[in-house]
Amino acid sequence: MSIFSRWLGKLRFGVFSENDLKREQVKTENEPTGENIPRHVAIIMDGNGRWAKARGLPRIAGHHNGMKTVKRITKAADRVGVKVLTLYAFSTENWKRPKAEVEFLMKLPQEFLSLELDELVENNVQVRMMGNRELLPDHTLAAVEEAVRKTKDNTGLILNFALNYGSRIEMVDAAKELARQAAAGIIQPDAIEEADFERLLLSSGLPDPDLLIRTSGELRLSNFMLWQLAYSEFWFTDVYWPEFSEQHLFDAIREYQRRARRYGGL
Ligand code: FPP
Repeated sequence: MSIFSRWLGKLRFGVFSENDLKREQVKTENEPTGENIPRHVAIIMDGNGRWAKARGLPRIAGHHNGMKTVKRITKAADRVGVKVLTLYAFSTENWKRPKAEVEFLMKLPQEFLSLELDELVENNVQVRMMGNRELLPDHTLAAVEEAVRKTKDNTGLILNFALNYGSRIEMVDAAKELARQAAAGIIQPDAIEEADFERLLLSSGLPDPDLLIRTSGELRLSNFMLWQLAYSEFWFTDVYWPEFSEQHLFDAIREYQRRARRYGGL
């Protein structure tokens, strides 16, 4: 049931609690508006394990709740006018985790998409994936590719999952391709420009992130979009990803709107 119809029902039967009203008030008061909404927001969704541990739950419960946050934040980002939302769902280094946790994480895209794909299609969201497809289990890749195919002509928010993604290998692969082209005489090494390199990155065609958010209090990039984040604004919070709310996203965006981006100039 959509929020809209739930609210409609509550209105009809007059069962609005004071909390409902307060929540809605806070929501609209805090919602960023104006011209300079970040076009591309990238998020390192961290702290699922610690969230679960603090509640005496297994780590996978944290990931599962993190999946629910993905839905919440996708809707909120779309509502305020973000055009691209990139979510770091699994890094090339995450394979080092215990097998059972990796298996669980690899089932999440499938579960998420089986629950949400229809609504994403309805809301004109375009799903993309950025990462190495080769090592992904067939069921994970099939679910993601189905979503990519079904939404490819959508023109709304781009929901870009970084899945089996690592920035260094992304750049090494781009360098290899440029080297191949140079060896084949297709390009002159001295003529290589930033744009030539950029075209070979997995984010090709997307604007660089304007705003990077990392949850859980960690202050590092963890091999995430190292090239693309060169001039992004960073926003960190101690909040664990499963508890990250629309309010937090809006706080981050409003803080972004107060920053002066100079790109090395004055
Ligand atoms: C980092 O937290 C989080 C991950 C490695 C996985 C992120 C995945 C999700 C939030 C769900 C993705 C959902 C979809 C739809 C693909 P951590 O486990 O490192 O937390 P910790 O640092 O507290 O241990």
